[in-house]
Amino acid sequence: MSKTSGDRAVRALPPRTFKYASRGPIRVARTESHALHRHLVGRTVWHYEALESTNDAAKEALGDELPEGLVIVADRQVAGRGRHGRSWASPPGGLYFSMVLRPKDAAHAALLGLLMGQPVVKALRHFGVLAQLKWPNDVVYQGRKIAGILSEGVHRHDVFYAIVGIGVNTNLDLERLPEDVRGRATSLRREVSLYVANEEFLDYTLDQADLVYSRYLNTPPEILLRDYRGLCATIGRRVRVTAGRERLEGRAYDLAPSGALIVVDDVGAKHEVLDGTVEHLS
Ligand code: BTN
Repeated sequence: MSKTSGDRAVRALPPRTFKYASRGPIRVARTESHALHRHLVGRTVWHYEALESTNDAAKEALGDELPEGLVIVADRQVAGRGRHGRSWASPPGGLYFSMVLRPKDAAHAALLGLLMGQPVVKALRHFGVLAQLKWPNDVVYQGRKIAGILSEGVHRHDVFYAIVGIGVNTNLDLERLPEDVRGRATSLRREVSLYVANEEFLDYTLDQADLVYSRYLNTPPEILLRDYRGLCATIGRRVRVTAGRERLEGRAYDLAPSGALIVVDDVGAKHEVLDGTVEHLS
């Protein structure tokens, strides 16, 4: 059972200075809360009203001794980042957060990005949206994007971290998204009639993320990927994958143990795709 954040102690922490903000150092107020029923992910949550990017805030904080599983959440971002150097529009009403994780292996940053799509899908389903994963880690509902994940690997003082940042279109006004994104996006608010507060959605998602991460720490990737397959809309579909200038069309056949997408092209050759943008053609 997930608990609401209402029963958690929230305390104000001294404002934090971000040295590398784009317009020079800034001091930002934050609060801290703890959810002691979780093992690692989301036991400690720092909440900011606004940040440039929760992923960047997490990276900058890595110099300090951070608890594994720390979550940094912001009500809005002014320089939210998406995959492949794209920006991620982050107006108020959406949910924007990053998790500080310590993968067992440096090659696992992308794998954790894949696995952490599952808590988002489960939360959306719990609140009434039958979402699916589009490889690698878009969350879609009826072909429209409702959430995205950016997983970044970072070395600090001989420790390897994965910063997994998640943006969910919960309660934002879709009109506030850039025009080219709006037509292909949807939100929780648009798809369900019941209002779901961002805190409640985050709480449920973090409970699920904590379970996924505990499982990740004890289970071989190929077993973890079985669960991912069950939620993935891409496998079995005809797809076009674009990676830089390269393009590939074929049938998405399966996932490799690394999480790469295996695509069989029209002459029957198998390709392992590690990254790219996927379009579903069928
Ligand atoms: C994508 O689909 O391109 C990934 C989008 C990831 C957006 C989230 S919002 C929280 C975190 N902070 C960022 O700057 N980006 C991620």
